[in-house]
Amino acid sequence: MNCDSHRHSSIDDCKIIEMKTVDHANGRLSVMENLATAPFSIKRAYYLYDLPAGAERGGHSHISTHEIVIPLAGSFDVVIDDGHRSKRITLNNPSRGLLLTTGIWRTLDNFSSGSICLVLASEKYDEADYIRDYAEFKRLTADKI
Ligand code: TYD
Repeated sequence: MNCDSHRHSSIDDCKIIEMKTVDHANGRLSVMENLATAPFSIKRAYYLYDLPAGAERGGHSHISTHEIVIPLAGSFDVVIDDGHRSKRITLNNPSRGLLLTTGIWRTLDNFSSGSICLVLASEKYDEADYIRDYAEFKRLTADKI
């Protein structure tokens, strides 16, 4: 497996993406479009909901998959880690998503009651694309280029 993405990964590449948002007297509408607001072509969407108090999700990095995490409802924190530096980011605005590039360890926690986390992904689900062992992640990110 080619894990070069982990040698290049940086938390500085994990940017907040502002969605195109249309305000209307009867509510707001936000759009994420392939290769326009999203810097990749979206192949998959999944969402986390019914999260019990104290839930922690994630706990992995991806070899080839880019993702955008969007707080559709409520708020939660995403901790991003490139093996050398880490940062905690609170997401609480449904018109703002967080881009998670390859080779970034992510943990999601601090979910507010009723929160919903939408994830848009650049690849279909493939368990072989996951690094789920933090010791292995540290080894893959040890020699940063
Ligand atoms: P997991 O990646 O552990 O979830 P999270 O990172 O949100 O904590 O996935 C939980 C389970 O769901 C695991 O058995 C894999 C499965 N799954 C799919 O079948 N398809 C998918 O697109 C995703 C993201 C997970």
